[in-house]
Parts: sequence; structure tokens; C-alpha cells
Amino acid sequence: MVKIGNIELGEFPLLLAPMKDINDPAFRKVIKPFGADLMFTEFISSEGLIRNAFKSTRKLIISDEERPIGIQIFGHDIDSMIRATELAEEAKPDLIDINYGCPVRKVVNKGAGAALMKDVYKMIEMTKAVVRSTSLPVTVKTRIGWDDKSKNIMDIAERLQDTGIQALTIHGRTRAQIYRGTADWTLIGEVKNNPFIKIPVFGNGDIDSPQKAAKMKERYNVDGIMIGRGSIGNPWIFSHIKEYLDKGILLPAPEIKERVSICKKHLLLSVELKGERTGVLEMRKYLNGYCKGMKNFKPYKLALLQTFTFAETEDVLNKIEEQFLNL
Ligand SMILES: Cc1cc2nc3c(=O)[nH]c(=O)nc-3n(C[C@H](O)[C@H](O)[C@H](O)COP(=O)(O)O)c2cc1C
Repeated sequence: MVKIGNIELGEFPLLLAPMKDINDPAFRKVIKPFGADLMFTEFISSEGLIRNAFKSTRKLIISDEERPIGIQIFGHDIDSMIRATELAEEAKPDLIDINYGCPVRKVVNKGAGAALMKDVYKMIEMTKAVVRSTSLPVTVKTRIGWDDKSKNIMDIAERLQDTGIQALTIHGRTRAQIYRGTADWTLIGEVKNNPFIKIPVFGNGDIDSPQKAAKMKERYNVDGIMIGRGSIGNPWIFSHIKEYLDKGILLPAPEIKERVSICKKHLLLSVELKGERTGVLEMRKYLNGYCKGMKNFKPYKLALLQTFTFAETEDVLNKIEEQFLNL
């Protein structure tokens, strides 16, 4: 049984990766029934939180049906991170996750996210401070290093563990790679198999099929897998991976009717959460995933990109369903 503090996550947990502008409550509520064992909010700026910026505080909204859930925070200033941890705890998540992996220039130029991989002393001090300032378990998500010449995850992992964090997720890319190339899980496996590492180690990067998940599980012996992009518009990836790992069964993509129904549920949640116009517009980033592999989808896709109301969008989705039922 993999555990983070008192949170029991099963034998081989599948985690939903934190994703900015993707992991809102609507997306998470769609994902959860498919078997994500632990989910995260998108990263939340500690500076935004302590200034009570609406853009940041609204990301703290979580509900019981999403549990267990972690709130992810990032920042460059230790005092701000302490205060942000306290504010995040008030939202009653199950754990606090620190982001030491974000590669975005705006973030690293301020010394936050992956920039801390270049300042390990500060990273450790920051982590100790966060761990001390909450009664919740603290976890960390990071990368294998800053660039090709400084893949320091082995060193960082042991030192992070000593701060009292209770799990570590490693994305198998360097900051320099951003999202380019392929994730290299070799170092993730080495960290996992380091006899000094006792906390759960989760692998992350490029998991987009049950077979790939099974391969990484077997090859690198990780305690669980975190899935990001592979889940966008494809929430059933979680149940499909579980079915494959447990029973060796490779499930086909859901029927169009089911996909449209999941998409409609997502649309409704999105509109409830953000209001009609924003809720509809923000659905666009998930539609490709939901409709992946559908034949003759292009005209419908174009139509979906021109809808602005719930009714219009639902109408196109109904037409997609009809067209495929009539094939
Ligand atoms: C749109 C997008 C937003 C992301 N936002 C975050 C974030 O807020 N916090 C974080 O730790 N990682 C973030 N990531 C990185 C993912 O959590 C994950 O590490 C990365 O996408 C690799 O996993 P994947 O190949 O399964 O997508 C983001 C990735 C994407 C594509």
C-alpha cells in the first residue's frame, strides 16, 4: 500500500498531474470517477495568495468528491511560501505540494519553479519551512535537473527527503528541455532504487497509454505514475491503465455516445463553474481529446470553435452523436 502520511493510495496509484489552466474543478470532477487516486490543483503563486489576488485564491476551491487532493504552490520567497502554505491549508486539502519543476521563463526568472534546482540550498530551506508551517503532508514535484550538464535529482532527492517531505514526483525532463524531446525515466528509476530513499517516488512524463504505463512500472519500479497531457479530453486513460495493469485487458476507446456524454458533463460543470461564456470558451482546449480519432470530425470541430453558448455547443455535440450513430 502506497501512503502519503495517513492517506492511503492503493497498491500502484495513478496521479493526475497539476496543469495550469487545465486542472480546474470541472476537469478534476470529470477525471475522478475514472480512478485518479490523487489529484492536484494547478500551481498557485504564493505571491498571489498572500496578496489575496482573486486569480490565485479562486484556484484554492476544492470539494470533497475530489479527495484526496493536493494544493500545489510555487514561489521564490521563503516567507511568502510559509504564509501561502497557511492559506492553502485553510482550504482543507489533503496535502500541500511544492512546485520545483515549472520551466516557464516568467517563473524561473523570478527564482521560482525549476530555478530552485540551481539553488539547492534555498530549495532545502524553503522545503523545511513549508514542512514546518503545516500539519498536512508536504510533497514535491520537480524535474531531473536544470539542464543536461546538471542532472542533480539524485542529490536533491535525498536532501528533500531529509526535510520531512512525504513523497516526490519526478518529471523525466530537464528544465532546458521544457516539454521537448522525450522524458527520460532512467534517473527516476535510480532515485526510486536508491536504498536511502524511503518516501514514495512517482514517475511522470509522456504516459499516454496503458502499455507505456505498464512498461515504466516494470522497468523503473516506481511507486506510482503521474499523468498530465495524456488525460486531457481522455479521462478514461486512468481506468484503462488500471484494467491493463490488473487484468492485462486493453480496453478500446469509449463509444462516441459515451464520449459525447462525458464531454457534455464536462461542459455543464465548466459552465456552472465559470459562467456560460467563459465556461464554453474554455471547453475548447479539451475538445480535441474527446473527439480524437473520430472520422470526419473537422467540420464539427470548426463548428465547436464557433459556439459561445451552452445550447449551441450542446447542439453540435448532439449532431456529432447523431452522425456517428447513423454511420
Ligand atoms: C498545460 C500544462 C500546464 C502545466 N502546469 C503545471 C503546473 O501548474 N504545475 C506543475 O507541477 N506542472 C505543470 N505542468 C507539467 C505537468 O504536470 C507534467 O509534469 C508534464 O506535462 C509531463 O507529464 P505528461 O507528459 O504526462 O504531460 C503542466 C503541463 C502542461 C502541459
